[in-house]
Amino acid sequence: MLSKTVLLATVLASLSIGAQADKMTAMKSGCMGCHQPDRATVGPSIRDIAAKHGGDADVDALVAVVKKGKTADELTWGKIPMPASPAPEADVRTVISWMLAQQ
Ligand code: HEC
Repeated sequence: MLSKTVLLATVLASLSIGAQADKMTAMKSGCMGCHQPDRATVGPSIRDIAAKHGGDADVDALVAVVKKGKTADELTWGKIPMPASPAPEADVRTVISWMLAQQ
């Protein structure tokens, strides 16, 4: 558990170089308000998302899901809807690719 936390901190720290990276760090922390690395909180953990979708992920489909959000009758993980993300599609794609690599 600790090493995963250290790894995540290292990844986030290494990304905080440059304006684009700052934007991605802000994006990630927005997503991480509901998606923690190792435990389900409001949403499924990032590790669980990676485990479910990581292997043969359809990234385009996941980007569409996050851009659109999930309503109460579309849920696959739990009972809480995910709000539509206002972030640009390219940024959502980058964060999802990062999430799927967290296995
Ligand atoms: C307000 C809380 C909240 C925020 C903010 C949020 N999510 Fe979610 N997310 C959820 C919930 C709840 C689910 C599970 C929905 C379900 O049961 O199908 C979810 C599910 C997902 C899934 C899995 C979708 C599936 O069909 O398996 C992905 C990928 C995801 N979120 C990515 C993101 C990304 C990327 C961001 C940031 C742009 C983000 N989320 C921000 C709450 C949130």
